[in-house]
Amino acid sequence: MAASGFGFYFLVFLVAFGASLQATNGQLSTKFYKSTCPKALSIVQEGVAAAIKNETRMGASLLRLHFHDCFVNGCDGSVLLDDAANFVGEKTAVPNNNSIRGFNVVDDIKAKLEESCPGVVSCADLLAIAARDSTVYLGGPSWKVRLGRRDSTTASKAAANASIPPPTSNLSALISSFAAQGLSLKNMVALAGAHTIGLARCTSFRDHIYNDTNIDKSFAKSLKRICPKTGKDNALANLDLKTPFSFDKFYYMNLLKKKGLLHSDQELFNGGSADQMVNTFAKNTSLFFEDFGIAMVKMGNIKPLTGSAGQIRINCRRVN
Ligand code: HEM
Ligand SMILES: *[C@@H]1O[C@H](CO)[C@@H](O)[C@H](O)[C@H]1NC(C)=O
Ligand SMILES: *[C@@H]1O[C@H](CO)[C@@H](O)[C@H](O)[C@H]1NC(C)=O
Ligand SMILES: *[C@@H]1O[C@H](CO)[C@@H](O)[C@H](O)[C@H]1NC(C)=O
Ligand SMILES: *[C@@H]1O[C@H](CO)[C@@H](O)[C@H](O)[C@H]1NC(C)=O
Ligand SMILES: *[C@@H]1O[C@H](CO)[C@@H](O)[C@H](O)[C@H]1NC(C)=O
Ligand SMILES: *[C@@H]1O[C@H](CO)[C@@H](O)[C@H](O)[C@H]1NC(C)=O
Repeated sequence: MAASGFGFYFLVFLVAFGASLQATNGQLSTKFYKSTCPKALSIVQEGVAAAIKNETRMGASLLRLHFHDCFVNGCDGSVLLDDAANFVGEKTAVPNNNSIRGFNVVDDIKAKLEESCPGVVSCADLLAIAARDSTVYLGGPSWKVRLGRRDSTTASKAAANASIPPPTSNLSALISSFAAQGLSLKNMVALAGAHTIGLARCTSFRDHIYNDTNIDKSFAKSLKRICPKTGKDNALANLDLKTPFSFDKFYYMNLLKKKGLLHSDQELFNGGSADQMVNTFAKNTSLFFEDFGIAMVKMGNIKPLTGSAGQIRINCRRVN
């Protein structure tokens, strides 16, 4: 009897311990807000749809915000914090300054979430849902967004400088940058397909069009009209030259023709280990979509704050 009694309590202990491990281990769940904020998903989806209807580029900008959040100490909403008394935010880090956008849209959606369920839905989760909804709105794949991330109480400009790869990166730098986040070569090539939407500034592609030789000559020529050798740093060009607001596989087809806009884009098809993946995605939309969804979930799982770590920010721009 004593032995089976012990066995029973030991089992209870194991189950309880297992459950607590799961909670503190950062297990996210697709049903996290099911009872605490049943309208969370529809509120974000409607906000994203309205924002893209108002400005088509916003879908791209929102997708990028999630990436820039997750690569800097995990998906914790740190990218959304304004500078504060005790830290400098990430908004002026090199990869972000004059470049990331969408903060007002995030604020509007967050205000609606607060109206419906105060203090429940994190800014980090808002970004993860908005990234998915933007992708779907523009014709891309859907995936089940895992939820339960909490928000950071600090941000790191230095980490943003160091962790987000610059467009001057070569293939091996890109591979190590993504590997440092637990993302494979295949994940990386799939995620880079996000450049099927959105725009880049002259300063991000100037060196590629003037100095690189692995670029289609007439493509480079047309870009030089937009982006002179000096000046016009903020002039914009499409990352995917023909369909910058539809989520399709043309990004990869462009690379096959040496029509990648960024140096880093063309590095993915330049005789190296990523060539085969690019070829495959250029041929098969459903494969790209499937692998993009898988990689987005994996990126969304980077070091989330869960349990009682961090907080649910009321205003995404500042710590409560
Ligand atoms: C592979 C490494 C990557 C590099 C080097 C890179 C670099 C860049 C650069 C330089 C820009 C233009 C910024 C500007 O000039 O203002 C840009 C834009 C963009 N990036 Fe990336 N990126 C990478 C991966 C990703 C990933 C993984 C995603 C999302 C999953 C993403 C989504 C976007 C989007 C959607 C835009 C357009 C944003 C807009 O129009 O507002 N990028 N990226
Ligand atoms: C709509 O987009 C414009 C930029 O095209 C922006 O200035 C404006 O604030 C946006 N309005 C809303 C309600 O989001
Ligand atoms: C960010 O860009 C502004 C110009 O809009 C510039 O004045 C400022 O020095 C830049 N900040 C950093 C940290 O590079
Ligand atoms: C980020 O990088 C820029 C340019 O290299 C540098 O001026 C700035 O000091 C860096 N900031 C931090 C906090 O590392
Ligand atoms: C790639 O870039 C890194 C970092 O800038 C550099 O150290 C390395 O030598 C480069 N590799 C190649 C093959 O060019
Ligand atoms: C191209 O390369 C030259 C020589 O290395 C360098 O001086 C220049 O700044 C680079 N960029 C552009 C846009 O010409
Ligand atoms: C495209 O990829 C899908 C997997 O998503 C696969 O089932 C299909 O056979 C592939 N099509 C071709 C033509 O290779």
